[in-house]
Amino acid sequence: MNNLIECQQVSYHYNSGKIKTPVLEALNLSISSGESIAILGQSGCGKSTLLNLLGGMSQPSKGKVHLNGTNLGQLSEDKITELRAQHLGFVYQFHHLLKDFSALDNVAMPLLIRGDDKQVALTSAGELLSKVGLKDRLDHRPAELSGGERQRVAIARALITQPSCLLADEPTGNLDAKNAADVLGLMIELNQAQNSALVMVTHDKKIAQKMQRILILENGQLSES
Ligand SMILES: Nc1ncnc2c1ncn2[C@@H]1O[C@H](COP(=O)(O)OP(=O)(O)OP(=O)(O)O)[C@@H](O)[C@H]1O
Ligand SMILES: [Mg+2]
Repeated sequence: MNNLIECQQVSYHYNSGKIKTPVLEALNLSISSGESIAILGQSGCGKSTLLNLLGGMSQPSKGKVHLNGTNLGQLSEDKITELRAQHLGFVYQFHHLLKDFSALDNVAMPLLIRGDDKQVALTSAGELLSKVGLKDRLDHRPAELSGGERQRVAIARALITQPSCLLADEPTGNLDAKNAADVLGLMIELNQAQNSALVMVTHDKKIAQKMQRILILENGQLSES
């Protein structure tokens, strides 16, 4: 299989108590290296749910998700975490930064977890934070940053490992036009220079048009726009 990520007949529903909320319905998607894809769709249609499945953060109710040819459904949590750390960068809709750590440490963390040298990791993190316009905020904790600054830290954290696929959930949602263009530029640079895949959920049609493919999520399924 040449596809980096492949969804086959994926269905997903949430269960809360007796209430079942169907979200995705026999959805198919293939993502290959170097591709850039925008996912558009109304609020509540299941975009974040889909990204969580692509990143192995949750498992489909039915169907299969393959990452690099491996069926995630057949792996332990630990193996999925390892595979994710190897291949994926994830920018969450709600940034999920570690609150007790500085911006610099948050961004260096994925490198430290995979065993890189601490000084090298901190230097790379500092450089990347400068690129997203935060060189004067390295020592700030998340609570000491604005919403858009947190989002930029989260983007830097996702980019630092140069992942083979970047999954980004409305990464520019809180940013002004200049910062949005800057971080988008960094994501596209990774996509083009490293031949990595970029999957971006966005409500912004202009941003979507910078991607090679635009997919619409509606009624639990994806279609090309
Ligand atoms: N834990 C949960 N339990 C039950 N239902 C949920 C849960 N999380 C999400 N949902 C429902 O699933 C649907 C899809 O949610 P999801 O977060 O994937 O939407 P989205 O397309 O990302 O929306 P938005 O554009 O607002 O971020 C929504 O209708 C939501 O109410
Ligand atoms: Mg969402």
